[in-house]
Amino acid sequence: MVDMETLTSLCKRRGIIFQSSEIYGGLNGFWDFGPVGVELKRRVKESWWQRMVRSRDDVVGIDTSIIAHPRTWIASGHVKSFADPMIDCKKCKRRFRADDISEKKCPECGGELTDVRQFNLMFETNVGAVKDNSSLAYLRPETCQSIFTQFKNVQLIGRKKVPFGIAQIGKAFRNEITPRNFIFRSREFEQMEMEFFCHDKESSTWYEYWVAERFDWFKSLGIKEKGLRLRPHAKDELAHYAKGCTDVEFEMPFGWSEMEGIADRGNYDLSQHIEHSGKDLDYFDDATKEKYVPNVVETSVGVDRTCLAILVDAYREEEVKGEKRVVLGFAPHIAPVQVAVFPLSSKLSEKALTIHHELRKHFASDFDEAGSIGKRYRRHDEVGTPFCVTYDFDSENDHKVTIRDRDTMVQDRIAIDQLENYLAPLISP
Ligand code: GAP
Repeated sequence: MVDMETLTSLCKRRGIIFQSSEIYGGLNGFWDFGPVGVELKRRVKESWWQRMVRSRDDVVGIDTSIIAHPRTWIASGHVKSFADPMIDCKKCKRRFRADDISEKKCPECGGELTDVRQFNLMFETNVGAVKDNSSLAYLRPETCQSIFTQFKNVQLIGRKKVPFGIAQIGKAFRNEITPRNFIFRSREFEQMEMEFFCHDKESSTWYEYWVAERFDWFKSLGIKEKGLRLRPHAKDELAHYAKGCTDVEFEMPFGWSEMEGIADRGNYDLSQHIEHSGKDLDYFDDATKEKYVPNVVETSVGVDRTCLAILVDAYREEEVKGEKRVVLGFAPHIAPVQVAVFPLSSKLSEKALTIHHELRKHFASDFDEAGSIGKRYRRHDEVGTPFCVTYDFDSENDHKVTIRDRDTMVQDRIAIDQLENYLAPLISP
């Protein structure tokens, strides 16, 4: 399995992920996606949105603001208890998560440590010109709370009948004490969350359904099943209101790690907002005449972690004719570049560009004329391009191009006017 250092350096070299503000020495816990990485990220989000929203009759999407009324976070419990235990070194001032420290002295400098204190992970900001407690607000630490606060608007205006879900993709912020493992635990990240509102009597059936459905989505991204597993939480791990929680885990180079949580949260969240806002967030069932606060089954997954899992899963090294070949073996429908078009010589650029312009109407196509064909293949192997098309001098007469498969390295000669038909079934999910 690839180690994190090798993967991080490949990601930088190939424009997948850069350190944020690198020219100023970087900022711990923040990352920027480059031209290749942003395409991967978009594909992950599109795949999720297609599956969770567009292809379903019982889920709708929303897109809410990052900063919400601060009372949202009092109601949700984040102001009081969204905290990690931390310890500071009195000498070198380094900060550690208490659960990472087993020694009595600082592991860095041997200095004296403070007592354990609770450190709230929410980033604070101020809304408006005055900076005092009355203007205090928070960058959201999860996207789902606005789904709860907008539940009634969406339900009434969309005339939605329970059971139904509300989905959202967006940024979340946590001032993690020790961000680590590349983009696995960062301070700014994206979540894809869906809250499924249902009757209490049906929540365990929906919970089972969503666990299976979400596991299947990871497989649909092309991630190998042996690197995935479900981990149901033990009773003592569950929040007091939760009836069940299962994580989808992926085997990272640093061990099995959480990608997504699927949780049966009871009606805790809506009840909290009812109590703190004084507003009626009940649901009235026309058919049964029953009025109740719906239960919620939540599915919550990180975009960045999913990208990392795809990268780890896709990375492989091979030996070809005595040379090392690095390949990102992405499933073609997830690949940031799906087809790359090369002119064999700069004299052929114009014709090759025409092919690229035609192909990019249907696929993520890239045009590459820099360096030898061998170098271009290596470059595209490293960004995981599944198909490379070369326009050569013979193409001028036979109107065919060479198409090379990333994985088998087999080359086929295909008529230019058949390229789209040839590629479409190979690239579609
Ligand atoms: N609304 C529930 C919730 O936010 P969570 O387990 O705290 O639950 C859900 O977060 C998902 O968000 C995680 O499974 C992970 O994929 C992602 N996530 C959480 N903290 C993260 C961080 N610091 N960096 C990157 N992704 C993170």
